[in-house]
Amino acid sequence: MNYSNILVASDNNIATITVNRPTKLNALNSETIQELHEAFKSLENNDDIRVIILTGSGEKAFVAGADIAEFANFSIAEGEQLAKQGQELLFDFIENLKKPVIAAINGFALGGGLELAMSCHFRIASDNAKMGLPEVTLGLIPGYGGTQRLPQLVGKGRAMEMIMTAEMIDAAAAKNYGLVNHVVTLAELLEFTKSIATKIMRNSPLAISKAIKAINANYKDGVNGFETEVRNFGKCFGTEDFKEGTTAFLEKRKSEFTGK
Ligand code: COA
Repeated sequence: MNYSNILVASDNNIATITVNRPTKLNALNSETIQELHEAFKSLENNDDIRVIILTGSGEKAFVAGADIAEFANFSIAEGEQLAKQGQELLFDFIENLKKPVIAAINGFALGGGLELAMSCHFRIASDNAKMGLPEVTLGLIPGYGGTQRLPQLVGKGRAMEMIMTAEMIDAAAAKNYGLVNHVVTLAELLEFTKSIATKIMRNSPLAISKAIKAINANYKDGVNGFETEVRNFGKCFGTEDFKEGTTAFLEKRKSEFTGK
């Protein structure tokens, strides 16, 4: 598939998607959102891919937000549709993907860019990264899940302050808040992220997809996460990965998981 706004590469069962609009600091226009959706969908269905890394091109920005030029003249209905469609196509889509998605935040992650990073399963930042939700400076609120996911990650009080002041925090503060798990230099960012992906790939892909589902259930209205856990725990017992994992342990050898 040919994309105009993103790059997709794969290496050793790890796919890397790079948002590639460096002259616009990788801002998310609707075409980029659609392309990201297609790329995530196709990688989810690609048996060779075990982990997906999402990053931005260049040394300055991960994604500097939704493309302000694109929605500057929108009506109420168009604004609502923009948020709804984006959430369904990309942000909720990534969060609920069966394969692990790691954001490698290589610079500014602002507005829709931080929302994109927060929809990934976890985040690693380079030490030059800056993060914030500055929508109120534009007379807006976050519309791609930011009012929900930021408090889940950093707590309500910190989310309120970040959204109300619109200020950026640096990578060290983001780590202190629990918004990112690790901070490394920009030169190390992709290799370090791949080293975490490699640790994940030692484990059962099937169990990992069920773990993602069970963890996410904690954040879904009307869903009992403990019940989701029980059901998915049970399902693991019917899988080849479970037989392989337990047999390999008892035979004192490394597991060879097939994801079945
Ligand atoms: N939407 C559309 N275009 C954007 C953008 C966005 N969110 N963020 C940056 N750009 C564009 C700029 O318009 C500029 O384009 P131009 O060269 O055609 O004029 C280009 O990217 C470079 O940005 P610039 O502002 O010149 O870089 P800077 O280093 O001076 O500032 C930022 C960097 C990130 C502080 C600044 O670009 C910014 O505040 N961006 C908007 C962030 C934001 O509010 N995001 C939330 C949107 S919901």
